[in-house]
Amino acid sequence: MLYRNLSTNAQGHLTIAGFDACELAATYGTPLYVLDEDVVRAKCRTYVEAMRTYLPKGSMPLFASKALCFKGIYPVVASEGMGADVVSAGEIATALAAGFPAQHLYFHGSNKTDAEVAYGVEQGVGCFVVDNADELAALSREATARGVTQDVLLRVTVGLDPHTLAAINTGKVDSQFGVPIETGQALAFVRQAIVTEGVAVKGFHSHIGSQIFEASSFCDQVDRLLAFACDVRDELGFVASAFNLGGGFAVPYVETDDSVDIAANIAAIARHLEDGCKTAGYPMPRVLMEPGRSIVADAGVTLYAAGRIKTIEGYRSYVMVDGGMTDNPRYALYKSSYTVLNASHADAPADFECTIAGRCCESGDRIAEDIRIARPERGDIIAVLATGAYNYAMSSNYNRVMRPALVMLHDGEARLAVRRQTIDDLLATEL
Ligand code: LLP
Repeated sequence: MLYRNLSTNAQGHLTIAGFDACELAATYGTPLYVLDEDVVRAKCRTYVEAMRTYLPKGSMPLFASKALCFKGIYPVVASEGMGADVVSAGEIATALAAGFPAQHLYFHGSNKTDAEVAYGVEQGVGCFVVDNADELAALSREATARGVTQDVLLRVTVGLDPHTLAAINTGKVDSQFGVPIETGQALAFVRQAIVTEGVAVKGFHSHIGSQIFEASSFCDQVDRLLAFACDVRDELGFVASAFNLGGGFAVPYVETDDSVDIAANIAAIARHLEDGCKTAGYPMPRVLMEPGRSIVADAGVTLYAAGRIKTIEGYRSYVMVDGGMTDNPRYALYKSSYTVLNASHADAPADFECTIAGRCCESGDRIAEDIRIARPERGDIIAVLATGAYNYAMSSNYNRVMRPALVMLHDGEARLAVRRQTIDDLLATEL
């Protein structure tokens, strides 16, 4: 199996962390998000330990909430020694409601509203990642009005083009995120920020994109960030004590994808930064990273029930499941590849070529096209692997389909962490 926590049992069913997927589906209903908490914890530990080993004191990974935001994730990442990146009042409130310490929150967002800026300051968010000069002014107003000095990082774009999907490639000069170095605007941004009242500039943030396989892209990012930091020091006399490198490590979704050795990559990035700092005579900054996908993606499996199975003569067969783009819009948005199994016959040969379609009235509602699974019957449980990141987080109520439940598996126990939505939930906000 592609992931080590998956196997098959004597009934030929898929097991996830030892749990029979068909039993989970019977107990909690379908569609069902299943999250193996032990995989999440192991990933957190890999980041925490590697960053402690290879990087200066104070370096730490921050979980990118956008990948999977619900109350139950925060005690897990907090207890493993991670901070968190949040991008909205909603994500802040979710983290705080789960008891996450506000001082370990890094508040992102390219277009925070003034109300959100005020809320972040009020709630004692540890650090703002300030995206632009407008936000800086709003933050200064809110902080000085409350008599506080807010720690900030300034988000810059390093002008890199890593090989990933255009929709998730954020480090280019032409981007709505951050302030570009190349045009000279980033330097002006720092010049202004270091004299702005109510904020204390700690360093710089840059995020080059997501689902990136090559460590070399991150080394290029470090080079550009360090060169910029040196220019800032020479021009303005300001020395950064922190670099936040964003997220982006890739995960394998299908057998042909490589898997990324997180610890080795962190070691390589650390060595690279250390060498660069030595050469430039720049004090080694502490480093923050913001992994999302690589913490939760392969900890997740979505279980569906197969519904109608339809063969269009001369074309293809469709297996229709009881969810789809509403719980996982990634194929519709990015044509993302997934590994799909018939969890009811996980040990049978995968010899039935089909397209997995969702239940929405939209021909783009697909999970995977032209794949092979063991021939399903109506009622079989269909498992889609590595759905822990950007699935629940990006789910919708399109067609008034209700959001699935989410179950967490930990130490041999299953716990309902998000209950299935009801019709009452759907109608709750409508007057
Ligand atoms: N930090 C910042 C500033 C980000 O914008 C992101 C992702 C991350 C960290 C986390 O990156 P990760 O480690 O998860 O790659 N919806 C898309 C992904 C969008 C990513 C946006 N930013 C998808 O489903 O692939």
